[in-house]
Amino acid sequence: MSTESLAIQPLTSLDEWDDHVRDRYDPNKPKDAFRQYTDTTRPGVREFYRQNHTQQTLAFVLAKKKEYGTLDRRRMGIWEALEYLNTLVDESDPDTDLSQIEHCLQTAEAIRAAGEPDWMVLTGLIHDLGKVLCLWDEPQWAVVGDTFPVGCAWSPKIVYPEFFAQNPDHEVAAYQTENGIYEAHCGLDHVHLSWGHDEYLSMVVRDYLPAEAVAMIRYHSCYPWHREGAYAHLTNAHDAQMLPWVQRFNPFDLYTKSSSRPDVAQLRPYYEELIAKYFPAELRW
Ligand SMILES: [Fe+2]
Repeated sequence: MSTESLAIQPLTSLDEWDDHVRDRYDPNKPKDAFRQYTDTTRPGVREFYRQNHTQQTLAFVLAKKKEYGTLDRRRMGIWEALEYLNTLVDESDPDTDLSQIEHCLQTAEAIRAAGEPDWMVLTGLIHDLGKVLCLWDEPQWAVVGDTFPVGCAWSPKIVYPEFFAQNPDHEVAAYQTENGIYEAHCGLDHVHLSWGHDEYLSMVVRDYLPAEAVAMIRYHSCYPWHREGAYAHLTNAHDAQMLPWVQRFNPFDLYTKSSSRPDVAQLRPYYEELIAKYFPAELRW
């Protein structure tokens, strides 16, 4: 990989960001290690966060929401979308890695084994489908990464806060107050989050799933809120109801990846039936 391509796509694969978050919140890690991870983090991951934090502006987010919000790129059923995401092959990954569809099934199977409601099992299956953005040539920094509100002051609890100094919104005074462009306690439904696979998928599925499932999808990477307790001044009573569900989902997102390969063919009929219970045969993407 050349230095130039490292700068353009700094992660060796999208999974590298997920791995980084899992490592950050590793329950076996001593507490004081949290602030030290920057020293041991691979330069590509740091570069990924630099690109994310300097380019996720309010204007960028609004443009992407407009561009993708029309949902007229493609029509696909959920299983078809899983297979489409599965075409995302990372050549720099070792062959032993599981495919995207296998990762999705691992998360869903862990939720199912824990006896959670069926809509939560379905949420586990689909929660990363927004990563199809990558197949439409979106850069890594606009697909994955910890998400955070834009249009208001960045919380120091966001990972690598120092990179925000180079974000153009840093120079816009109206975006640098605690509430920024928002009313206090307006609710996160009214707050624009940094753009990525979470926001995009929430747009695609919001009409079909319970509010708790949509919250799990939209906020699953919003670690500053659901894990670090930031941005309480923007939340409302509805968010307070959703937060425990988002937190309940998070361990399945973080810790269910293993090297054991799920049997896709054997599991497919159960999941096809579950998909059909909540979704039409085709969705607009
Ligand atoms: Fe995700």
